[in-house]
Amino acid sequence: MESDQIHAWLRETNPARLTHLWRMADATRQQYVGGEVHLRGLIEFSNHCVRLCAYCGLRAPNSALTRYRMTQDEIMACVRQAVAWGYGTVVLQSGEDPQVSREWLASLVRRIKAETPLAVTLSVGERSDEDLWAWREAGADRYLLRFETSNKALYDRLHPPRPGSASDRLAMLGRLREMGYEVGSGVMIGIPGQSYRDLAADIALFRELDLDMIGVGPYLLHPNTPLGDPSFRPVAPDHDQVPADELTTYKVIALSRLVCPRANIPSTTALATLNRTNGRELGLERGANVLMPNLTPPQYRVLYEIYPNKACFQETAEGCFGCMRQRIESVGRTVGVGPGSAARGEPVQPTAAE
Ligand code: 5AD
Ligand code: FES
Repeated sequence: MESDQIHAWLRETNPARLTHLWRMADATRQQYVGGEVHLRGLIEFSNHCVRLCAYCGLRAPNSALTRYRMTQDEIMACVRQAVAWGYGTVVLQSGEDPQVSREWLASLVRRIKAETPLAVTLSVGERSDEDLWAWREAGADRYLLRFETSNKALYDRLHPPRPGSASDRLAMLGRLREMGYEVGSGVMIGIPGQSYRDLAADIALFRELDLDMIGVGPYLLHPNTPLGDPSFRPVAPDHDQVPADELTTYKVIALSRLVCPRANIPSTTALATLNRTNGRELGLERGANVLMPNLTPPQYRVLYEIYPNKACFQETAEGCFGCMRQRIESVGRTVGVGPGSAARGEPVQPTAAE
């Protein structure tokens, strides 16, 4: 699919055409990754962050937020829950937190790999090659780093760099791949300043990067951020601003599936925040094949406030487990078994049924 075609789909409003897009995405998902929905247990282990991202509630200057960092023993208790509930993967996520040292995280990864059969995904921001190598050697399997937007000017506006070190997430994604990580990235949909052309280019870039995992969700406004202030907000040229809505999110999920048929694509919490009733399910029916139940203990979870009013933020880990299982069954799919690594190679199921 060419960038122009992607662009046309993003602007499509005809319901019959959109039904066709959902069907193509769902058939492609079935053909390439099958009917299993893999569960990735999300552990938000630190909300400390040194960065200044203009949209994110964890940004360093947000002094209204109480900060926490979980201990290795607290994290291991969550990991053991993941094993007990049959999850295949844990995702260790945090703000960009220098106190999460190379050795501390390496020893945690080693512990998880020694004591459990789980795949380990890291999502801890931009880090040095030395750190990334050490964690890979410790056994980390995957790394998530959204590039957020392929529009360089908009990226720079929203992500002030740390003094003395330019931010180049695309280069880091390339290095992660060379180190043997499975690589995940993605963008926010409808971030102020994002045009339809930008978003089409983002999706074309998913394919170019040949991503193993693609996470996308709507931008949600956090009042204690620069984007919470209308006078700061970038404006896309020619009234071409992408809306941060549910329909556009489904389009991006579906198009991501079509350009990267083998990728693992979650139906995300940000989407569920826009539609708590059945947003997760509609994501699963329009290209997604992964859910990320939250394992973070409730007293910390409420403090991992990337944006307000997050779906699940008052739930327990057990509540999310039951909720996810029930949602998977309600759309006639099955809970995935094992780590659910990205399928590189042939489709896992024959196409005869299509
Ligand atoms: N709305 C939606 N998504 C957000 N993220 C950060 N802040 C927001 C927000 N206000 C997303 C970013 C980041 C991921 C962890 O959460 O894409 O990479
Ligand atoms: Fe957390 Fe539904 S997944 S409440």
